[in-house]
Parts: sequence; C-alpha cells; structure tokens
Amino acid sequence: MEKAKITLHREFRIGAIDDRLYGAFIEHLGRAIYGGLYEPDHQSADENGFRKDVLDLVTELNVPIVRYPGGNFVSGYDWEDGVGPKSDRPQRLELAWKTIEPNLFGTNDFVDWAKKANTIPMMAINLGTRGVDAARQLVEYCNHPSGTTLSDLRVSHGYPEPHKIPIWCLGNEMDGPWQIGHKTASEYGRLAQESAKVMRWVDPTIELVVCGSSHRGMDSYIDWEATVLDYTYDLVDYLSLHTYFGNRADNTSNFLAMSVGMDAFIEEVIATCDYVQAKKRSNKKMMLAFDEWNVWFHSNQADREIEPWSIAPPQLEDIYTFEDALVVGCMLISLMKHADRVKIGCMAQLVNVIAPIMTETGGGIYRQTIFYPYLDASLHGRGIALNLNLTCPTYEDETFGLVPYLEAVAIWNPESEKLTLFAVNRNLEQGLPLVADLRDFDDYRLTQHSVLKHDNLKATNSFDQPDNVKPVYQVGGQSNGGNLTVTLPKASWNVIILQKNGMEK
Ligand code: AHR
Repeated sequence: MEKAKITLHREFRIGAIDDRLYGAFIEHLGRAIYGGLYEPDHQSADENGFRKDVLDLVTELNVPIVRYPGGNFVSGYDWEDGVGPKSDRPQRLELAWKTIEPNLFGTNDFVDWAKKANTIPMMAINLGTRGVDAARQLVEYCNHPSGTTLSDLRVSHGYPEPHKIPIWCLGNEMDGPWQIGHKTASEYGRLAQESAKVMRWVDPTIELVVCGSSHRGMDSYIDWEATVLDYTYDLVDYLSLHTYFGNRADNTSNFLAMSVGMDAFIEEVIATCDYVQAKKRSNKKMMLAFDEWNVWFHSNQADREIEPWSIAPPQLEDIYTFEDALVVGCMLISLMKHADRVKIGCMAQLVNVIAPIMTETGGGIYRQTIFYPYLDASLHGRGIALNLNLTCPTYEDETFGLVPYLEAVAIWNPESEKLTLFAVNRNLEQGLPLVADLRDFDDYRLTQHSVLKHDNLKATNSFDQPDNVKPVYQVGGQSNGGNLTVTLPKASWNVIILQKNGMEK
C-alpha cells in the first residue's frame, strides 16, 4: 500500500479552534427532553428532575454550548407556555413532529440544566408563527436585569438574576417547506433583519445567528444565503449550515466520502459570505455556525409508523453503527479544517434523538458508537488547527470523484505543548502507512495512539453490549528526531497524540 505523507509545522496555521465547535443541540422532539434530560421519576433524577446519569455523560463530553429548543419545533413554539409554575403550563398540539407538548420543561429549566452541564445556552426564537414582538420580549424576559413587566416576571418565576444568554438563533430552517411558517428568502431576510435589530436594542451584547440553507441540496441554495445576507449582513455574527448524512444505498465507500461534500458546502457558503462582504464593501467577515450536523437515516422508516399525538414518542432514535462513527469522525475533521470560519458546531442532537447518548425511560444509559469521535475531538481538539500538506492514495467515487483514503487534521495546543492528529483511514480493505515530517516538532514524541475499529462495519452498542464498539490503544507507531511513522488500521478513526519531551502527563 502506498504511504500517506504529511508535514506538521507550527506556521501552517488554519486558525484557532473556537471551543464552541464541539457543541450540541437539544430539541423538544421525541425523548430528547422527556426521558432524556428531564425525567423526575427516574432513580437518578436530581431536585430539578434532571437525569444525573445523562448529566454525567454530557459532562464527560465537555460540551461547550447547546442550542435549544429547536429545530422545527421552535417555529410553532410560544415560549410563554414553558415558564412559570409547572401546574399552570398548557399542553399543546406540536405540529412539527405531530406530538403533544406538555411544557414541563421550558426556557428557565433549560438554563438551569445548562448550568449543571457546564455549558452555554444558545437560544433559538420562533420566526415561523411569531416575529419581532415575541423575539424582543423573550430577550427582555431572559436578559434584562429587572424593573420591567417581563424581566420582573422572570424574577417572580424564581430567577432574580438575568440569564445573560449570549447567543440567539433567528429561527430555524426557514427555507424548508416542512417548516411551520416557511418563508421565501426575502420574506425571511426582512423578518430576520428587523428581529435582529430590536433584539440588539434590548441587549446589545448578544450575538446572532441567521438561517442559511437547510442543506446543500435545497433548490434555493446559495441564492438563499446571498439574499438573506443582503438584508442582515451588518446585524448578525454567524450564518448557519445544517447537514445530515446517511448510508441509504449501503455503499460504505461512498458514505465515508460524504464529508468531502461537507467541505465543499462550507467553502461555497464562505465564498457567498465573502461575495456579500465585497458587494457591501464591508470590513466585517461573516463567521459560520454549523449548528446541526450528524448521521440521520436509520430511524426514518420507524418514524413513519409512529401514531401522531402522544407525549415523547421514540422519534429519530437512530442506533448508530461503527461505520457511522467513522463518518462522524470525518465530519468533525471537516469542521476543524475550517476553524478559521466555522466557529460554532452543534452535533444534532445530544440525547436519544439522533444522539451520542441513549437512555431507556425509567432505565439505563449507554454511549453510542458516535460518542467516541465526538469525545475525542472535544477533549483533544482544542488549540490551533494546522494544515497538513497531505499527499495520499485515493479512490474513485461516482459522486465525489477522487477521494483521499486519509481524512486528517492536526491540532496544536501551545499551552499544553500537545500535538494531536485526528485521522480516518477510509480504506475498507487495508491499513494505511502514514509518515509525518515533524521537523518543527522534533522535541515532541508519540505518547498515545487510540483507535476506533471493528471487524463489523455495522456493529452497534446497546444496553446489553455497551462496550461493543469503543476505542483501543494501539502500540507500534514510532517518533524520533522529527519523524513519525504509524499505520492506521483499515476503516478506522485514530487519535495520535504527541507531547513535548518533559510535558508528558
Ligand atoms: O434535528 C432534527 C431536525 O432536523 C431539526 O428539527 C431540523 O432543524 C432539521 O431538519
């Protein structure tokens, strides 16, 4: 097998990783909240009714930011339903997912949960059925200190201090016909513009995310971005991107190549942001929030069979395979490779609904296969993303053309003097020998090589076999005097850590 070659150098910088790249998303959908975050009757529930076993795994993942409350749900949501005494909260028909929403968990509960999970809340507003007025009122309720009816209402609900929610999404997937209150780009652009303006008047410290396309395949793709940014460029900080992949044709080589399409998606959206910047002769660079991404397809058929109008049915409960974890690894690498422009990433979602954490209502919990690349990236992917100067063998894919067998990025952390290489070998048949020129890091040495691999691409974890797919530590790689040689097993996710001599833990 031909070798892959990379060169690691401190000056080959893509950009600093924003910690928020490793965020997640929680929606009022299926068992994400009820039976996931919140289950007052569960044996591990705390005084707020939050499952501690879930909080423990979220804490293990060190999730920096969580987007809430949707998703499609938010476009029909009246935030007032979810605050105040729980006994007074209404049950509503929830049209996005055809369920009944009991409203036993709402904005203040989420802020409480986020504190316990040590994460930043990222709040979405409803620009489907509502608009400027509800947007400004929710910011006032949450972030204004006190002395107005709405801020005092929050105080009366038991929250004397403002929540100081730092970042807000201007609706969700407003380009999609499935969205409650779907809009054309101009309709949405104007509404987002006015909402952003008054939300900032209420609290000038907040950051705002405007909706980009729901995915790269939308008919209105790119025209949507250009039009929406034309209206909002000066008022918002981030443009959103969403992507879900699936192995519907059971073609694993093609599935593993899909992150090449994610790279293209990000680069096309950056080009469009920069086009609008040029058109406006603006000094501002628009940043990106990839605030929904994951694999999602296993549960599609089962979801079609769920009867409408129940509370917290088991929707979107994908059970992830080992190959899904490889794709998630490639997607994480794609985010890191664009660290100069992608500042926020939200794995969608966090618990039960297309999620790395799976619970049983009234029962146990386990880590899905995709938990592991997400954990690795969150723990070891903080620092400065480096370009690799990569050369490696390729394969031909009918959708993506020539696809490199090696997908990789390096993150250098100058404080801890740690250099981490994240790498996926897309070759399903053979190991991939990798040689790294480390001349600029000749005082670093290999301290750890962990590998996620499995003989069965379709292997899953479960309540009975929670550790069927989990990383193992590999020995055999070598680093000396500025060279690293290592073999990446066939179909594997690899985390290769080098530390400066004397800095090893
Ligand atoms: O995450 C599931 C759904 O996917 C979200 O509600 C929506 O925004 C997207 O289409």
